[in-house]
Amino acid sequence: MNLRMDNERAAEWDERYGNAERLWTADVNPALIIEANDLTPTTALDVGSGEGADARWLAKRGWEVTAVDISQVALDRAREISGELPITWTRADLVVDPVPGADYGLVALHYFPILVEELEVARKLVDAVGPGGSLLVVAHAPEGVRAHGFEPDDYVQPGGFAELLGDGWEIVTDETRERGKAAGRGHHTHDMVFRARRAGR
Ligand SMILES: C[S@@+](CC[C@H](N)C(=O)[O-])C[C@H]1O[C@@H](n2cnc3c(N)ncnc32)[C@H](O)[C@@H]1O
Repeated sequence: MNLRMDNERAAEWDERYGNAERLWTADVNPALIIEANDLTPTTALDVGSGEGADARWLAKRGWEVTAVDISQVALDRAREISGELPITWTRADLVVDPVPGADYGLVALHYFPILVEELEVARKLVDAVGPGGSLLVVAHAPEGVRAHGFEPDDYVQPGGFAELLGDGWEIVTDETRERGKAAGRGHHTHDMVFRARRAGR
């Protein structure tokens, strides 16, 4: 088993953020723009929000955003960059902690790592989508992940979420597409994008 203690995982991420002035681009992820553009803003959960670019984009479009991350360093930085935007920054280790809030209109994960033995995490994120809400899972395509020394099969992939959806879900997007702007030192050229909508109101 690869499960680790909450504080060890948090320390690893804090160290990564602490060692860089900015770890990720300040730009919103392209898949979020495409997939959330036509959704009516309600409440959104940005899972593994990092330095907050996606949370800011959503908040500016009228979403009431809860941004959750294990790294206090990332959350403090994101809060500082975001100024007065109405975003609730929440520290949690989603492997061991409950999902903050419920019944979201959008639960969005961009490059959020879930080990296959931690599938319960994916299940709780699916459960956090409210009636009529959307789940958006975006992951780097396997070639880019391998180029960074990780094995994609060790992680729950967007297609893995499809297997967790019960009745009453419609899959809207399930494809691999060019990212537009390569990330990860040019290795991440393609995104796997999965969006599903829960029936309801
Ligand atoms: C690859 S980064 C992606 C950041 C951001 N979504 C983006 O696209 O720029 C993954 C993020 O997930 C956070 N994270 C990793 N494991 C976590 C966990 N168990 N619970 C909450 N956040 C976690 C990390 O701190 C990091 O900010």
